[in-house]
Amino acid sequence: MAMGSGSGGTPARELFGSKWGFVLAAVGSAVGLGNMWRFSYVAAEGGGAAFVLLYIIMVILLGIPLMLSELVVGRKTHLSPIGALRELGGRGWSYLGMLFVLVGFLILSYYSVIAGWTMRFAVESAMTGFPGDPGDHFSEIAAGPAAIGWHLFFMALTIGIVMIGVQKGIERAAMLLMPTLFLIVVGLAFWAATLDGSGAGYAYYLTPQLSELMNPDVIRSAASQAFFSLSLGMGAMLTFASYLAKDEDLNEQAVTISFADFAVAFTAGLVVFPVIFALGLQDSVGESTVGALFIALPGAFEAMGGAGRVVGVLFFVALAVGAITSAISLLEVVTSSIIDEFGLSRRRAAVSMGILIALLGLASAWSTDILGLVDQIAGELLLAVGALLMSIFVGWKMKDPGAEMLRGAGPRFAGAVPYVVLLVKWLLPPVIAVVVWFQFWATLAVVRGFFGGG
Ligand code: PFF
Repeated sequence: MAMGSGSGGTPARELFGSKWGFVLAAVGSAVGLGNMWRFSYVAAEGGGAAFVLLYIIMVILLGIPLMLSELVVGRKTHLSPIGALRELGGRGWSYLGMLFVLVGFLILSYYSVIAGWTMRFAVESAMTGFPGDPGDHFSEIAAGPAAIGWHLFFMALTIGIVMIGVQKGIERAAMLLMPTLFLIVVGLAFWAATLDGSGAGYAYYLTPQLSELMNPDVIRSAASQAFFSLSLGMGAMLTFASYLAKDEDLNEQAVTISFADFAVAFTAGLVVFPVIFALGLQDSVGESTVGALFIALPGAFEAMGGAGRVVGVLFFVALAVGAITSAISLLEVVTSSIIDEFGLSRRRAAVSMGILIALLGLASAWSTDILGLVDQIAGELLLAVGALLMSIFVGWKMKDPGAEMLRGAGPRFAGAVPYVVLLVKWLLPPVIAVVVWFQFWATLAVVRGFFGGG
């Protein structure tokens, strides 16, 4: 009954049609630019394998408990973040829901610009091949009118899908697109193994330098990458779980979603690093920036001739597919909140919010410095703040989160629930607080650099 009708006689809440629809939509949210573009570049910044190891630890210790926390709040209330936190925590906590909406706004505004570059590469490389001068080419397309056009196109696509609704839009897109993406990425990894000179790439990616493990910068970026990649800290998983009809085993689903997300990121690394090392392009990734992969990889694909073109097109198609299913979830957080709070129709909410986000994104499309700045503020700092407050909420404020975690839990996970509750209460808040602290200083440095240095 809780799912039959919204509060105050608003129309019945639309639900996912099947368990797999939900899982794939959540995996679709998690798997995106974060797995293939961001993961590879922060892994390169963090010294390769050492980062990967820390990242696994962060996914297990912080990511899975936090994901479960978001899922239980969403399923228990069947409300979007603002309403859900208000219902369980009172008015004060509803501000956390508003923070989530703001973060969704900010992240989608620049995410869509990067997704636009990706789509452009996918389309243009299919038609005319990869550019011979990837560095120059990237500076031409990354910012300014060209970037704006593709950004707007991508936003229009995202708005279109969210407008259609949960089952026909979001669920259907995920069911179709996610398997396609998995197949492409796995196929590419097999192909990368056949390259001459790929060994150095694997070595870099898979043999950890133990000294890097204690580097606070690497620890901070591994934690933040986990939040970003698993779509945590801004209510995306909460929102999707609010469309769950049945008492599914959320523990199992949190593990499935997190594992699938890690698997795609890890496999993408098995493509990116061998390719880059086989072509001797490691320096361009070492001095990694937002755009490095968009320069190094097209350069590599171009150098490989015909085969490179086919593979490159597939790579960018997979990236674009991941981007769209993630963007859907970002817009859905904003849209569902507007529907619930102001009683707007889905169509109106998706279009109006989508347009506002697209307008905000013009700034990031105009300059990659602005894009980097917004990524640092929203994608790094605010996600960590959101994750911290969410863990405090579920650990200390919500009544008996363990009972909700146990609802529908099979025997395999039920025994773990008490420990997860302890983790959420005692481990997550202090650890994530440290991450927030480091992110605060990192953000301050980026803001200073932005206003001082350029
Ligand atoms: N998880 C997405 C990715 O890895 O690309 C990005 C993202 C989506 C972050 C949704 C946050 C979010 F709520």
